Amino acid sequence: MQATIWASLLTCDVGRLADQVAELEASGFVAGLHVDVMDGRFVPNLAFGPQSVEALRSRTKLPIEVHLMVESPAHLLPVFHAAGAGRLIVHAEACPQLHRDLTSIRKLGAQAGVALNPGTPVDAARCVLEDLDELLLMGVNPGYGGQAFIGAVEQKIADARRMIDRAGTGTHINVDGGVKAGNAQRLASLGADRLVVGSALFEPPSIAGCAAIFHNLLSPDAPHEVTA
Ligand code: DX5
Ligand code: ZN
Repeated sequence: MQATIWASLLTCDVGRLADQVAELEASGFVAGLHVDVMDGRFVPNLAFGPQSVEALRSRTKLPIEVHLMVESPAHLLPVFHAAGAGRLIVHAEACPQLHRDLTSIRKLGAQAGVALNPGTPVDAARCVLEDLDELLLMGVNPGYGGQAFIGAVEQKIADARRMIDRAGTGTHINVDGGVKAGNAQRLASLGADRLVVGSALFEPPSIAGCAAIFHNLLSPDAPHEVTA
């Protein structure tokens, strides 16, 4: 199974956001945009709101998933869907009524995702798999781009793959945080079929060049041991 790349805009050059998104789209190597929303409470940082999603929606045809790192996100679900997000991802740790929130997302006509912090076991998603289009496994503690991948999450990817295959729900496994050229193949081989890539896309030589590196690494005919 070939993993696709979802570009996190958290560490982009916000002053050149439109140009950078155009470059991501033109590369042809990015399946969609991953927009991080932070409330300063669930995570210590603040990031993107619905206005940004609306602006992105009008400038790109790429699908947009919104990663809601906010406490009690229920009231924001229709807002971000109306702004143009096709998939809404809530944190299990922020949703005491997780099943209700996922049902609300699907009722809106959006795809539903659940994110799990590194310290939250995969089991937290077991009872809602039927309601889940994407399981987003955090490779870092959320809040900032550019952090190092936490190795213990590797086992969670393998566990999640086994759990989802057994359940037969077809839920996608995405990994977010600390995804680099040096670990992308391994994360895919453990069972991730989507990878969120943030800071590693906004490095020299260019966005298109970085996206191509990931695309080549994740192609079925890629050599097994590639580092960059
Ligand atoms: C972290 C965010 C991630 C982040 C990924 O809280 O949810 O989407 O932007 O950035 P990198 O790839 O730099 O770890
Ligand atoms: Zn994210």
